[in-house]
Amino acid sequence: MCGIIAFTGSLDVIPILLEGLRRLEYRGYDSAGVATVDETGIHLRKRSGRITELARALDDEPLTGVCGISHTRWATHGPATEWNAHPHLDEAADFAVVHNGVIENHLQLRQQLEDDGVVFRSDTDTEVLTHLVAKLWSGNLVEAVTRATELVRGTYGVAVICRHEPGTIVGARLGSPLVIGIGPAGHSIASDPGALANHAEKIVYLADRQICQITPEGWTVWTRDAVTVDCRMHDLRQVVDTIDDDLNGFPHHMLKEIYEQPEALTNAMRGRLDEADATAHFGGLNLDPRQLRGVERIIMTACGTSYHAGLVGEYLFEELARIPVEVEYASELRYRNPPVDRNTITLAITQSGETADTLAALRESKRMGHTTLAICNVVGSSIAREADGGVYLHAGTEVGVASTKAFTSQVCVLAMLAVYFGRTRHLSALQGARLIDELQALPDAVREALRCHDVVKQVAQRHAHARNILYLGRQYLYPVALEGALKLKEISYIHAEGYPAAEMKHGPIALVDEETPSVFLVPRGQVFDKVMSNMQEIKARRGPVIAIASPADREVARVADDVIPIPDVPEWLQPIVAAIPLQLLAYEISLLRGCDVDKPRNLAKSVTVE
Ligand code: G6P
Repeated sequence: MCGIIAFTGSLDVIPILLEGLRRLEYRGYDSAGVATVDETGIHLRKRSGRITELARALDDEPLTGVCGISHTRWATHGPATEWNAHPHLDEAADFAVVHNGVIENHLQLRQQLEDDGVVFRSDTDTEVLTHLVAKLWSGNLVEAVTRATELVRGTYGVAVICRHEPGTIVGARLGSPLVIGIGPAGHSIASDPGALANHAEKIVYLADRQICQITPEGWTVWTRDAVTVDCRMHDLRQVVDTIDDDLNGFPHHMLKEIYEQPEALTNAMRGRLDEADATAHFGGLNLDPRQLRGVERIIMTACGTSYHAGLVGEYLFEELARIPVEVEYASELRYRNPPVDRNTITLAITQSGETADTLAALRESKRMGHTTLAICNVVGSSIAREADGGVYLHAGTEVGVASTKAFTSQVCVLAMLAVYFGRTRHLSALQGARLIDELQALPDAVREALRCHDVVKQVAQRHAHARNILYLGRQYLYPVALEGALKLKEISYIHAEGYPAAEMKHGPIALVDEETPSVFLVPRGQVFDKVMSNMQEIKARRGPVIAIASPADREVARVADDVIPIPDVPEWLQPIVAAIPLQLLAYEISLLRGCDVDKPRNLAKSVTVE
């Protein structure tokens, strides 16, 4: 989603800003812009479309300077046009603002400003901030930004420059992440530490309602009441230890990340499986044994793919730990007021750790006094820092907008957590030992599952023209059906629906005809026969069937039109192995349809607005 990178120092600022924007590119955006400032004023370049368009504009009409701000915008208020792209200027072009987040009272503020004679030049909510800063400025930019942010309701991460103070950049945060970068040649502000990788060595996280100022010489952070904050510095390399934008020979990040899954799973389990005690261990859960045993209910909350991981977690926890679990979309949970007993913990699941709804749901649970935990990939992200305890995935940076390795790593962490909770309750040492053995075999099983790629390519050829595809599975594989359908929708724009295989009789079966393929998740397990019956029901209506099944399964091969083989693994780990062919199928179909696999239309990697 929207990205900010700003720099002031002794280096030519444009290459730094463009490099930073490119590092944020994978998050999804639809226009980009930069503004530099010097004694002569503010200089602006903006373009709709990709950063390459902006770079071309800068080649045609270069900008020079050592202080500037820049932004990638994901349209919320107003279409993705040049005039709506950030930075936004005030009428006199004395101030420029880039903003992430949403200003909820922008209409009222806009009306007030228009009544005062201000002429707006964009449809954005951000522009009100620019005019407010200009109106409130009386010689001090920090003061003007502080007062302007006091007037807005909603969320913001902003960076502001002013022609009267060239060389100074002011930042402020409420609900949208912002970090300061400290480097040998200057200082920077960014919405994501990853954007700072080429010039900063240390970083400082801004907290909500803090304001910062950077100059070539130094940086300062204040509260809204102008009290200086003594901030902790972090080593950038430790936080962003996995910046990895090299494709390693793969044509797309998504494919690279699909193939990284055996290693990602190994990393998720490294040091956490304890054969001696037949359990798993986690360094950062921050739950003492009494609290652990006292947990009576878990609310898992997440968005998108992470929500599907939570649904698998529900089956895992109920079976292995015998703890009731409820999985709720974070966007719903944050506005619900469910009766929650004391011994309920909230578990947020998130790759980025910045999803606005998940963060808000976590905060609401915290406010109610519940223990909050997080499963998160991005070290130092807002959710990782705000949860009472948590588990990192260690999956490495996930760049492809369609989440793949984060999903399987999340399920793997949930499986380990379920074993851990289960072992404090009814799971015997022998049962625990067997589960640990099964987990250890998982990376190899995923390696083997990846061998289905050639078969998937052939299946994709046959179905790339489809207009609807159904994904069907039961029990542990029902959430995987949802995830398979989501993957396809996200990157190929084919309509797809995931359903519990038996539930399809209650509606979706009306969609079935020769043109509507159904992907069945049907490895051997307790409900195998039931799923086979559901498959027959589809065949009876001439629907093409693609089965994800054991390679040796003759029974499946007799009914299905195509079989994509996956290795046999215990049922509780099938979601991880069965996800692989579905990721590959979405990828191959997306390629055949000529879609932009890593940057699908309208989507953002990290959704930092509500
Ligand atoms: C966006 C991404 C999805 C992701 C979801 C939740 O919609 O495009 O891939 O699953 O956000 O993100 P999170 O970072 O919280 O897991």
